Amino acid sequence: MENPFRFSGVVEEPAFCDRIKEQKEIRRYIESSQNVLLYSHRRCGKSSLILKIFRELKNVTPVYIDLYGTTHVGEFIISFLKGISSLESQMNRLMKMLREGIRSIGLHFSMDPITGMPTASPVFNRATQDKTIDELFAMIETLSKKKKLVVAFDEFQEVAAYGGDAFEKNLRKSIQKHDRISYIFAGSQRHLITEMFNDRKRAFYKMATSFPLGKIETVDYTEWVKGLYRKAKRSIENSFIEDVVALCENYPMYVQEFFFNLWREKELSFEHLDRVERDMVEKRIPEYSYVWDSLTLNQKRALKLIARTAGKNIFAAENLDKSGFRTASQVIAALASIEKIGILDKNKEWKIHDPFFRRWLLSGQN
Ligand SMILES: Nc1ncnc2c1ncn2[C@@H]1O[C@H](COP(=O)(O)OP(=O)(O)O)[C@@H](O)[C@H]1O
Ligand SMILES: [Mg+2]
Repeated sequence: MENPFRFSGVVEEPAFCDRIKEQKEIRRYIESSQNVLLYSHRRCGKSSLILKIFRELKNVTPVYIDLYGTTHVGEFIISFLKGISSLESQMNRLMKMLREGIRSIGLHFSMDPITGMPTASPVFNRATQDKTIDELFAMIETLSKKKKLVVAFDEFQEVAAYGGDAFEKNLRKSIQKHDRISYIFAGSQRHLITEMFNDRKRAFYKMATSFPLGKIETVDYTEWVKGLYRKAKRSIENSFIEDVVALCENYPMYVQEFFFNLWREKELSFEHLDRVERDMVEKRIPEYSYVWDSLTLNQKRALKLIARTAGKNIFAAENLDKSGFRTASQVIAALASIEKIGILDKNKEWKIHDPFFRRWLLSGQN
């Protein structure tokens, strides 16, 4: 049987491990046209979850808009149009809908050099971009009158970089008055995205209910992995699955990658576990070294301090001394600056959120 585990891109069944609670809760928001701010670190499963919910919606029409990689308002508009194009499977009906709803966009026809098929690309004027956005939102508002709509903007934090105040205000103006549309703003750079929605001075202040996406629970992974092994007429012990999940600290992508690598092993032993773990760290050395090299000396010291102490008693004289710090305030300043890069989390204690990065730091290979 083909390896059922997938560790890149959006996952669907059977590679999707159910997030029953989250699905239910978000579906409830969608059905009552509430806006949701869905955030987590990268690769925790936001996109997979949104699309899973969208596939199963009955009374609400889903529109998925991927903003990843967009760098200016023109690209925002193109992504928006791509998202809308899923609403109509028939090209001519879609064209008609766009032509009637969006007067500020023209269509440029050309021949695709590879397929030889005619393709249409949207053309619009920079000067009237705001108008185009208004028309796009007005069009989906009209659609929502027939059937409720949910519009997901994935990787919404990109907008923070290019949007500026005026653009954000313009979006808010439309979004605010749509009472039959639920907007999902999904983002992976926590501090950027939460600032956008929690800062009184920003246009999106309190525009959505916060929904931090947590990790998947160990019991859920256990059922799911066992199911996949069973399908292939193989078996795996609960305790083994639990060990893998613990090593991966419940991160969906790591759990998938770990099991992907274990799949080819006929027998499962702790030696294999060790080897896969080492391979996974090794594969990431270029990425980790790159991050490491971009840090200042005090940031490096602070990271090692957190890795070594697991965030406990970091200001104890002995710990400061071992890390090369003289004062606690140096540590505080360094930690605050690393948090912005997204390597660290702070709950009660500071923590390096990527367990494999932490192991690499402790291995002394840097
Ligand atoms: N529900 C899930 N069950 C199992 N694995 C998942 C799940 N959600 C995400 N993953 C794993 O995480 C990876 C990244 O998921 P993705 O949805 O792209 O995350 P995000 O949008 O938060 O960056 C997937 O390729 C998959 O390996
Ligand atoms: Mg995503």
